[in-house]
Amino acid sequence: MKVYILKEKDINKRVAGRFIRLINKKENPVIGLATGSTPEGVYNELIKAFKKGIVSFKNTISFNLDEYLDLKDEKYSYRSFMNEKLINHIDIKQSFMPTDNYDDLIKAKGGIDIQLLGIGRDGHIAFNEPGTDFDSLTHIANIAEMTRIDNQRFFENGDKVPERAITMGLKTIMHSKRIILIAFGKNKADAVAKMINGPIHKSCPASILQKHPHVEIFIDEDAASLL
Ligand code: F6R
Repeated sequence: MKVYILKEKDINKRVAGRFIRLINKKENPVIGLATGSTPEGVYNELIKAFKKGIVSFKNTISFNLDEYLDLKDEKYSYRSFMNEKLINHIDIKQSFMPTDNYDDLIKAKGGIDIQLLGIGRDGHIAFNEPGTDFDSLTHIANIAEMTRIDNQRFFENGDKVPERAITMGLKTIMHSKRIILIAFGKNKADAVAKMINGPIHKSCPASILQKHPHVEIFIDEDAASLL
């Protein structure tokens, strides 16, 4: 695990740079994307680079980590979020959200070259909440209460965060060739410390990343404050 402690704007630039280099080098790049507040700055950098002609996504395929189930309104879907924050602004070849046989589909497309991750306050990655099996593939998961509270900020007019989602499993994520995890802010510090220094244990799903051969963790000083 390589850990970089940097300012938020430098993290966004560096991480976007990692994706741009991959995409400019590889014939058929496959990238793994996340939703939430954390990756928005990276997506803005990617859109800027595309508009300047520094990168084209025309041969790139993306796989998102997760998608809500049982939504009352499509506008809250992670598909809508991704379209608005990235996909509608670039020339990407194909962009997938989790479905049945997602692991087979990822494999058929050559596997994920770089997977982008955020982390939840309870140590979740994607919707793999504490207690999730390290051997899990893409599956339907219950969203933990703490995560539903945290994600309520994206919902309006009394609409509630769903209780279930479809998510890449921990093994799905571990199959990625490279992983980049980003975290900002003091409220992530405890999860970040457990992920990096804690035992590899189901109580902190992100701790499994200690076993991956090519992981980079980009955190700001606040998220690093308990290291
Ligand atoms: C999103 C995802 C989640 C988030 C995590 C952090 O696709 O899989 O694990 O990365 O909940 O969310 P933010 O970035 O909003 O703090």
